[in-house]
Amino acid sequence: MREEILLCSSQDLLEGGLAWGFDVVYAGQACRAFAIRFEGQVYAYLNRCSHVAMEMDYQPNRFFDDSGRWLLCATHGAAYAPDSGACAGGPCRGGLVKIGLSESRGLVHWHTAPNLKPVEF
Ligand code: FES
Repeated sequence: MREEILLCSSQDLLEGGLAWGFDVVYAGQACRAFAIRFEGQVYAYLNRCSHVAMEMDYQPNRFFDDSGRWLLCATHGAAYAPDSGACAGGPCRGGLVKIGLSESRGLVHWHTAPNLKPVEF
């Protein structure tokens, strides 16, 4: 069953700004994930490059390039579209793994899926 898990408040995600990082369990493995705001909408992805399964931020929670148009991987420069996670250039091998998000009444929630679960404490 899908759950919606509180992630952050809407004001924590600024247009083209720092991401909000969080932990998930994806396909049984602990992974970092991140949420961003782009053209007014919120999006989230696993923090795992499709080129080599590495975290992508070049400084903590910094994924956008200087133009604010693309998400970049710090390791070899793969570029991804912020609104779909699709590969937009560089050595990526496919897109980012997208995580469902919803935003209402000033709060952002992420959505679990069969292969995507919260970390159990
Ligand atoms: S690991 Fe991301 S571009 Fe190579």
